[in-house]
Amino acid sequence: MDLKRRDFLSLLKNAALVGASAPVLPWLMGRAQGSQGPEFAQVGTSAFDRSGEFAFPAGYSYFNYGGLGPSPESVRNSIQSAVHDIDASGNLPSEEPLRARMGRFLSVPPETLAFAQNTTQSLMIAARSLPLQAGDTIVMTAHEHAGNAVPWLELAAEKKLGVRTLAMDEDDLLCEKAEALFKAGARVLAIPHVTCTTGRVLPVEALCQIAKKYGAWTVIDGAQAAGQLPVSPRAIGADIYCGCFHKWMLGPKTLGFIYFSDVRAAELIPVSAGAHSPVLWDLKPAQGSLSFTETTARRFSSGTQPAPLYAGAVTAIDWIDSIGIEKVRARVLELNGLLNAGLSKIPEFTVLSPLSGYARTGMVSFRSDTVNLTTLQVRALQAGFRTRFVAEAGLGALRVSLHVPTRDAEVTRFLEFVTTFASS
Ligand SMILES: Cc1ncc(COP(=O)(O)O)c(C=O)c1O
Repeated sequence: MDLKRRDFLSLLKNAALVGASAPVLPWLMGRAQGSQGPEFAQVGTSAFDRSGEFAFPAGYSYFNYGGLGPSPESVRNSIQSAVHDIDASGNLPSEEPLRARMGRFLSVPPETLAFAQNTTQSLMIAARSLPLQAGDTIVMTAHEHAGNAVPWLELAAEKKLGVRTLAMDEDDLLCEKAEALFKAGARVLAIPHVTCTTGRVLPVEALCQIAKKYGAWTVIDGAQAAGQLPVSPRAIGADIYCGCFHKWMLGPKTLGFIYFSDVRAAELIPVSAGAHSPVLWDLKPAQGSLSFTETTARRFSSGTQPAPLYAGAVTAIDWIDSIGIEKVRARVLELNGLLNAGLSKIPEFTVLSPLSGYARTGMVSFRSDTVNLTTLQVRALQAGFRTRFVAEAGLGALRVSLHVPTRDAEVTRFLEFVTTFASS
C-alpha cells in the first residue's frame, strides 16, 4: 500500500513529537572484557525479513519500538478472533495460557506471574507491595523513565522514604557507588534493565547481587528489555521484574506483566487484590472479617481481565520465539552496529549510547551542539522516519529504535537523510 497523503498527515498528527509522547563480579568482568557470546554473530538481514507482516505504509520507517511496538498480523488476528469468540459465547477465557506461555518465555514458574495494564501500573503495584517504613531509602538511576520514577517518588512522599540516584557511570563504578548506598542501609534497588534514554543495558545482575547482599529488595523495570534481549528475572536476581507487551514484544497495547520471586513473596502486601485474586475466600459479616487464601501471584490481579489482549500476547510470544530471542538480539545488535557506525561519522552528532559491547541494544540516542534536533525530528517525520526525542535527564537527544521489522535499507536512507540535514 502506498503512503497516501491523508494517512501521512494523520501519522504526523498522532505522533508525539517531543518527549514522551561489589566488588567487581565475575559477570561484570565478562562484560568489561567484551565477552560477546553467540548473540554477536552476524545474522544477515535476509534471515528474517518479516517486515511484510506489519501494517506500516510504504515509505514509512518506524524507528520507535522503545515507545510502542506495532504488532505483526498474527497478533492482530488473535486479538480480533478472541473479541469475536467472547461475544459469540459470553465466555471470558482465563489468563492461564498466557501465564504458562510467559512463564516458559521468561524461564519462571507460571504462578510467579501477574498481569497489569502497563509497566507503570506493574511498577506501582510493586512499589506499593513492599513492606517499607519511613526513613527507608530507594536507589534509582539518574536516567529513569517517569513510569518507574513517579510511582516510587509518590510513595516516597507519602511514606517519607528517601531517594538516592546513581549517576550513569561505567559499570564497575556504578556498582561501587551502589554498594556504598546499600552498605549504608538503602532498602530498595529500583532501576531499569535497559534505560529509555540511551538504550544502555545496565549491569542488573551485579546490582541485584549487591543489593541482596545487604538484604535490600530488588525491583527491575524491564519495559525496554523484554522482546529485544533474553530476559530471565530469576537469573538476574530480581525480587520483582516488571515489563510490558506493547514495546519490543510487539504484542497487544496496554498489557504489562509482573514477576514476583517466590523467595520473599510472603512478605509482600497484595495491594491490588480483588475479585480475581482469591481462589478461596471467606467473608464473615458478623465478625466483619474477610480472609482469602492465595499464595500465587494471582493475589495481585483484580477484577475481570482483558482476555483478548492475553490471546494477542500469547501470539506475540510465539512470534518472537518463531525467530528465537537470541537471533532477535543478534539482529538488533546488527542494526545497532549499522546505525552507530553511520552516526559516528557525522561530526555534528555525538552518540550517547554504548558504541560497543553487551550494553548495546536496538536504541541509539545522539545529541548535537550545532544541529536543532527538534527540527530534525519534525523534518525526519515528514520524510517518513518516526523517531523519539529524549527529554529525560535533560539530554535533549534524538532516539532511534530499531527492531526485527527494520530493514538495512531504511537505516541507510535515514543516515543519508540526517547527514544531509546536519550539513545544510
Ligand atoms: C524504562 C521505561 N520504564 C517504564 C516505561 C513505561 O512503560 P508503560 O507505558 O508500559 O507504562 C517506559 C516507557 O517508555 C520505559 O521506557
